[in-house]
Amino acid sequence: MENTLEKICAEALKEIEIAKNSESLKAVSVKYLGRKGIITQLLRSISSLPLKERPKAGEKANEIKRILEKAIKDASHRLESVAIESDDFIDVSLPGRSACPGSLHPVTQIMRQICDIFTRMGFDIAEGPEVESDYYNFEALNIPKYHPARDMQDTFYVSDNVVLRTHTSPIQVRVMEKCKPPVKIIAPGKVYRSDSDITHTPMFHQVEGLMVGENISFGDLKGILTNFVHLLFDDKTSLRFRPSFFPFTEPSAEVDILCVMCRGKGCRICSHTGWLEVLGSGMVHPAVFENVGYDTSQITGFAFGMGVERITMLKFGIDDIRKFFENDYRFLRQF
Ligand code: PHE
Repeated sequence: MENTLEKICAEALKEIEIAKNSESLKAVSVKYLGRKGIITQLLRSISSLPLKERPKAGEKANEIKRILEKAIKDASHRLESVAIESDDFIDVSLPGRSACPGSLHPVTQIMRQICDIFTRMGFDIAEGPEVESDYYNFEALNIPKYHPARDMQDTFYVSDNVVLRTHTSPIQVRVMEKCKPPVKIIAPGKVYRSDSDITHTPMFHQVEGLMVGENISFGDLKGILTNFVHLLFDDKTSLRFRPSFFPFTEPSAEVDILCVMCRGKGCRICSHTGWLEVLGSGMVHPAVFENVGYDTSQITGFAFGMGVERITMLKFGIDDIRKFFENDYRFLRQF
């Protein structure tokens, strides 16, 4: 009897050792220790042994039962920790890993807001190429070669007559060449200038606008831009039109808004002037109309242009334009 028990014990231990998962371990446990298991039945059969063999056999059988129970328990712990380390184990008691949804870049958000406001005022959206001919970027806009105004925009030249557009104004020329007045468009897009510091990056975004037709006046320009600023910021943000110069507009005006940080009191952001420059604008120069074949005795129009990064910086109180392009997740996730 004792020899048989030893043999069974050795076999059972081997089976426990090679069990690959909790199911096969459970099967081994049932096979030996279950209600009809081998050890259980042996324990039951002790009563049929001669009286003097019973105590020893009983002791041995119980000892083996304990050995097997302990081996099964240890094996079950071992299998559990293997399962936890493997990829397909899901511990439902752990806090969940939250998925981080993406969001629109702050410049994209403001770009869309600007386009929204103008489309609600009846402007169509026009687009054009970023690699542009010298003609559309300069000549057609009344900026001939060697004109000092070319220095205002540090241009990236692809070749003698091809540039990366320095503004989205060439789109206005392209649209006027194709469409008769009235024209009412905005031109959003990327532009390029060889310039880099805390307020300039070599690539930035602009939204320019053009409204052409009969009897379009400087009053319309003021009205549209005032409405725009009031909708983008709020209606307490007053505007100031300052005489300026652009070769493609006459008269030209720089548009300032009341400082959105200090409300005119003077602060670091507005260099203590109380005002922030946000837009260039003016009445379209007759030379530009002539270049696209418009009759200057019949029609007039205005144009304006703004840098989207600058407006975004003011809207969100950001002091360094380069933050927009570093793609630092800690910065971007705030918007
Ligand atoms: N094109 C000008 C610039 O990029 C802005 C502008 C557009 C000014 C239209 C006046 C009229 O600086």
